[in-house]
Amino acid sequence: MLWGCSKAPFATAALSDLIKEGGAVNQNRTFKNGEGDAWYRRNQGHLVNSEIAASNDVIYICSSLMPFKESLNSILEIGCSNGVKLEEICSKLSAKGNGIEPSEQAVADGNRRPKNSDITLVQGTGDRLPFADQSFDLVYFAFCLYLFDRSSLLQSLAEADRVLKPGGFMAITDFDPGSPRKRSYSHFSGLYSYKQDYASFYTQSSLYYLIGKHSFSHRLNFFDKIADERVSTQLLYKEADPFLTQG
Ligand SMILES: C[S@@+](CC[C@H](N)C(=O)[O-])C[C@H]1O[C@@H](n2cnc3c(N)ncnc32)[C@H](O)[C@@H]1O
Repeated sequence: MLWGCSKAPFATAALSDLIKEGGAVNQNRTFKNGEGDAWYRRNQGHLVNSEIAASNDVIYICSSLMPFKESLNSILEIGCSNGVKLEEICSKLSAKGNGIEPSEQAVADGNRRPKNSDITLVQGTGDRLPFADQSFDLVYFAFCLYLFDRSSLLQSLAEADRVLKPGGFMAITDFDPGSPRKRSYSHFSGLYSYKQDYASFYTQSSLYYLIGKHSFSHRLNFFDKIADERVSTQLLYKEADPFLTQG
């Protein structure tokens, strides 16, 4: 799936509304004020069950977590767009789903699902999750962290940790070039894609254990020799009891 690759006109939100002190564009506000909708319009044609069910991340996450299906009742997807991926994962793991996404249009479309669907989407950004502490068994950052404003990146990572139960799972799909890179975002002047290994923030704390990693590519279904195109899905376990006490 070639998210954000095609060229399209810049979003129409007034740039001056989105400028923060110091002259940089606030990425979270820009996505909430129109770029989220623009992303959705550009990619809507791919956000259908048949295509999503065959995607690398969905297959990897669902097959890896199948042995834990009984204990996975509630799933949160951050950056969920219209929730079609969340719906697919929840259906495979028999769980109920919540999603958060800055695009008003994607959230409205997603919430038009039949009433018996156990998926609820809310408009917002990952730095403020409107959910109680320890309320999810699986939290999924689905190819969105590279777009998060750097000023609240650590807050966003902490928010996901706050809402995830100890003994739960975290999944992260993102660009994963091997060393951090900052690239201009081709659809909106002043925005950047930040490519780096986001799972390492969690594993370095020793509070999370890396279960596994599936490497693929933004343009291929397998590992890419071109570092800038590399993508991975990493699956983490939030240790229920992370520190061995001795003495
Ligand atoms: C590349 S798309 C991925 C969509 C979907 N999760 C998937 O994997 O198909 C990135 C999504 O993240 C959303 N996004 C951007 N900034 C965000 C933020 N700060 N918090 C939450 N979502 C964000 C975008 O609006 C967009 O829907």
